[in-house]
Amino acid sequence: MLRDSVIPGALREALWDCRHLCVLTGSGISAASGVPTFRDAQTGLWKDFDPIQMATPEAFARDPELVWRWYRWRRELVVNATPNSAHSALVTLASQVPKLCLVTQNVDGLHQRAGSEDVIEFHGNLFADICSDDRNHRVQNSQADLPICDTCGALVRPGVVWFGESISPSALESAEFAASHCDMFFAIGTSSQVWPAAGLCDIAANVGAITVEINPDSTALSEQYQYIIGATAEVALAELLN
Ligand code: OAD
Repeated sequence: MLRDSVIPGALREALWDCRHLCVLTGSGISAASGVPTFRDAQTGLWKDFDPIQMATPEAFARDPELVWRWYRWRRELVVNATPNSAHSALVTLASQVPKLCLVTQNVDGLHQRAGSEDVIEFHGNLFADICSDDRNHRVQNSQADLPICDTCGALVRPGVVWFGESISPSALESAEFAASHCDMFFAIGTSSQVWPAAGLCDIAANVGAITVEINPDSTALSEQYQYIIGATAEVALAELLN
């Protein structure tokens, strides 16, 4: 499919008729808020660390203090950030279609702060603390450098999904249900390199949904989409709502 930086008329018309829109977002939607995208997070203090090496249970087992420092740095970044116009555009869009289901790979909570409701947090939440022995056990946030679970004494860790870990069954089920019941599917600001999130497009396409990718760059899965809007989320969504 052709890559276009403007919204084609046929896409606007399809959106007009849309009954159920499923939107998958990735870190690109928060870029304009000053939160680095996942694969661009090698900045400043952290320029020598590969984010992918930091987001694993093995990294935490090897050096939990380092991993905590990395996540506290990310927490501080996000606390000082504010939702941008793309987050807000999705709130507006939700009021204009009969049903919008928002699935995010982001752990920053910016969709909720912009006003989106019932967001499916596919990769968890940056601000949640959980027990490293039982990921279902959420514990109170602590100021300790290396917090300990008050129930079992295991280390406490950030409540995000790391590489090699499963997605929470309820998040997976809700996201797959939304993708398999939508008539339009948008992937916004994601490089589509991480599964199972990247597979939601296929689920939507298999039920005949119109699929749209919004990303200034090509991605691993661009070819699969019927419409590819080669623009930032802020620009493309503003134009779509215009
Ligand atoms: P990536 O860092 O892989 O990709 C970010 C994407 O956003 C890239 O394709 C950029 O081209 C695009 N982008 C940059 N600025 C943008 C803008 N203003 N508007 C729209 N798009 C823009 O991040 P994700 O795809 O979100 O998971 O990464 C997926 C998962 O990989 C993350 O949730 C994280 C990581 O593993 C876990 O930690 C489990």
